[in-house]
Amino acid sequence: MSKMWGGRFRGALDPLMARLNRSVDFDRRLWHADIRGSQAYAQALAKAGIITPDEARLLEEGLEKVRQEFDAGQFQFLDSDEDIHTAVERRLKELIGDTAGKLHTGRSRNDQVATDMRLFVLDAAVELDSALAGLQAALVERAEEALDIIMPGYTHLQRAQPVTLAHWLLAYFWMFERDHERLMDLRRRTAVLPLGSGALAGHPFGIDRQYLAELLGFDAVAPNSMDAVADRDFAAELLFWGAMTQVHMSRLAEDLIIWCTAEFGFVRLSDAYSTGSSLMPQKRNPDSLELIRGKSGRVLGNLTALLTVLKGLPMTYNKDMQEDKEPLFDTIDTVRDCLRLAAGVVRTMTFDADAMRRACGEELLATDLADYLVRKGVPFRTAHELVGRAVQRAEELGVTLRRLPLHEYRAISPAFEADLYDALSLEASVAARNTEGGTASEAVRRQLEEARRRLAGRAGPTTW
Ligand code: ARG
Repeated sequence: MSKMWGGRFRGALDPLMARLNRSVDFDRRLWHADIRGSQAYAQALAKAGIITPDEARLLEEGLEKVRQEFDAGQFQFLDSDEDIHTAVERRLKELIGDTAGKLHTGRSRNDQVATDMRLFVLDAAVELDSALAGLQAALVERAEEALDIIMPGYTHLQRAQPVTLAHWLLAYFWMFERDHERLMDLRRRTAVLPLGSGALAGHPFGIDRQYLAELLGFDAVAPNSMDAVADRDFAAELLFWGAMTQVHMSRLAEDLIIWCTAEFGFVRLSDAYSTGSSLMPQKRNPDSLELIRGKSGRVLGNLTALLTVLKGLPMTYNKDMQEDKEPLFDTIDTVRDCLRLAAGVVRTMTFDADAMRRACGEELLATDLADYLVRKGVPFRTAHELVGRAVQRAEELGVTLRRLPLHEYRAISPAFEADLYDALSLEASVAARNTEGGTASEAVRRQLEEARRRLAGRAGPTTW
């Protein structure tokens, strides 16, 4: 089988060169997009009068047969197939003969591969968004049952202020909601059609690119043929999206890994997402979460890999760009799987509300005591200082803030009165934070409603 570009060559490729040049082992995943693109292109060629309607029909039917072979898992690749584009065309020629050679009129693999990649990303975005919606739905479900569970909120991983578990769960919902927005946004820039740009300079036979765009479901036509074949921003954006989303999942995983420790004991993963140790019989390891955290390494690496490939490229297409595929596919697969895994973990874990409550030491209420003084007219900075002294005094006496007697407080400041002890309650602390975005259950309920409203209408995976 001769090369699709073999006319001006006499010598054969070094086998090592042939192996490295060959992308079909990974770009075969583009088969669906490639066939769709070619079927549309055949129609557009006929519309422009470049081929006859009969030839277009022959091409389309032949491509349909190729599609069926792929669908049935029966497509046979040959060693000589360089990439998915040449493999499909080679097979088309075997099936329909020389008319196959008319399909590539005015087209280059440069605008072809850019089109295929965009189609692939557009399809992947649908699947990724549904996996994302699944995780978001799991967080919302769990938040509904956690509106009254109080736990310590942390800064610097030090106990800071009481919050509700629902508030913590929804914090992650909003991270993933931004990921959803980013995905929808990059979708717009991806739905711009390169096909009809040729190798770099444009189409010489007056093909109707708007028509092509409509056939393939693109929103617009790339306005510059050079940019169209050189541009991989859409792939880089998807890789950034994946990196950001994976980082969010990794942070969720890290919180939960800490919570799974005996020291915290806030959460227990279901058996479906934990594993044991081959040596230590007592172990129950949160491997699912560690995998999610660990896979951020490759997902961040994929973004760096593509940006590095693109960084020094002159206009327009360069073979370096063949290196865009493996990172892209890997990020799509990894992030999709991790989103589904994380949704499973979140849906099935059990919380220990008592352990959370026990971890709410009275030091969490120091700010509330300062706020109490503020309500009595003390400037906040002074109040902060006075409560600091009370905390110190309580430490000296080995008691909690609630147990520190009133005369001790009053020795620090007469602004302290007997009702100070009312401020020292977890419930009061949480309930006080009722401003929009706060942790009071009323505010969290409003937040939850908004989250549910955002989720409605999003296509989730069929499993939830
Ligand atoms: N397999 C190539 C890639 O993925 C297709 C484009 C080849 N174009 C070319 N001028 N050699 O980038």
